[in-house]
Amino acid sequence: MRKPKFQSVVGMHDILPEDQKYFKKIYDTVSNIAGFYGYGRIDTPVVEDAELFSKGIGVSTDIVKKEMYTLRTKGGDLLALRPEWTAPIVRAYIENGMQSLPQPLKIWYWGPCFRYEHPQAGRYRQFWQFGFEVLGEKGAVIDAQIIQIFYSILRELKLKNLIVEINSIGDNQCRPYYKKLLANYFKSRASSLCLDCRRRLQENVLRILDCKEEKCQPLKADAPQILDHLCEECRAHFKEVLEFLDEIGLPYRLNPYLVRGLDYYTKTVFEIFSEKENENQVALAGGGRYDKLVKLLGGRDTAGCGAAAGIERMVNLMKASDANFPETGEAQIFFAQLGGLAKKKGLNLLEEFRKAKIGVAESFGRDSLKAQLARADKLGVKYTLILGQKEALEGTMIIRDMGSGKQEIVKLEKVVEAVKKRIKK
Ligand code: HAM
Repeated sequence: MRKPKFQSVVGMHDILPEDQKYFKKIYDTVSNIAGFYGYGRIDTPVVEDAELFSKGIGVSTDIVKKEMYTLRTKGGDLLALRPEWTAPIVRAYIENGMQSLPQPLKIWYWGPCFRYEHPQAGRYRQFWQFGFEVLGEKGAVIDAQIIQIFYSILRELKLKNLIVEINSIGDNQCRPYYKKLLANYFKSRASSLCLDCRRRLQENVLRILDCKEEKCQPLKADAPQILDHLCEECRAHFKEVLEFLDEIGLPYRLNPYLVRGLDYYTKTVFEIFSEKENENQVALAGGGRYDKLVKLLGGRDTAGCGAAAGIERMVNLMKASDANFPETGEAQIFFAQLGGLAKKKGLNLLEEFRKAKIGVAESFGRDSLKAQLARADKLGVKYTLILGQKEALEGTMIIRDMGSGKQEIVKLEKVVEAVKKRIKK
């Protein structure tokens, strides 16, 4: 087949109608949980001042160094398509005076992000995230609640083999000392590190712990561990987070190498993976505490904690699973028609069903009754309404019970009521 002249940009995809049911299912689950836990929805512009990210996420991170889509405006400003939501949310929090609202402020979001990454399965250049952020609360209970919310969402969507990994990366009191220790350790062994890690040694030594290269693993295994070098405050905080997780029976795995790829974190960091034997781990969600970010971006000293999840990665797993996710709209009945008059009457009738809040599927483009009944069967509706030439002239309609095959004739003006009664039964 010849390639079409225009194709979507590399790493960016259409979300086709057949995939929308997964997005809807995730959206409904997330917004329900957000409502229950008192999180308010926020939307921020897709484009921000590029410096917001270089300052917020860190100049030496992969996201800022290699992955940002930037553009220069005619006026000379350097803007960036948002690669993540946390820095924009903190910007919005400061700019809109949300610090004077009752704290903590709990917000959630849903929308696309952009990263110029090497595209591969589950890694895109435009991808969708949802996330939860809490501003103005230092307590460890919030770290645990954020993890609990993400774990519950993933479980509710029937995603399996979930692993929660957790670590603490300390704060401005204990981390500088630990980084020095780590740098000294790796410096004397630099020749055994991979090329990337030699660069990391200069730029951000913590990221060496994250390296997946075979070559670096033995060195990593003997490196000093942050949990042995946390200050009193960070140690107590981490202990409390783990106690909360134990209390709610949420399983987790301590991972002393988990450092995350964004510089704003302090104390708790976590990721949730789906992990199958002999298959690569898929990171579904990640987050942590960022107690210094609000101040760094120009606001009052305010604690923060949150996380985000990758929606396409969840959709990919949902599609591969054998769990059943119903189509969007969830039609309860199907409307089948034969002939011009039936089509005309059908348009009005559908509107009546919509007002009565009864989901109706139809197939106006098909003329054969057999094809329409086959479609109704596929959708799994309980009843099909049949309006043929004869019925349209007589002002009646057939209600067919798809389970038993039994058919009844009702007056057209009574059909909505008749269907309502049957559905209620
Ligand atoms: P992140 O770990 O960079 O964290 O991204 C969160 C999730 O987004 C990942 O676990 C993954 O599922 C998904 N994701 C990331 N990059 C891609 C990609 N190229 N293609 C598809 N999915 C992707 C953050 O973004 C932080 N802002 C999370 C946070 C919120 N921390 C505190 N609050």
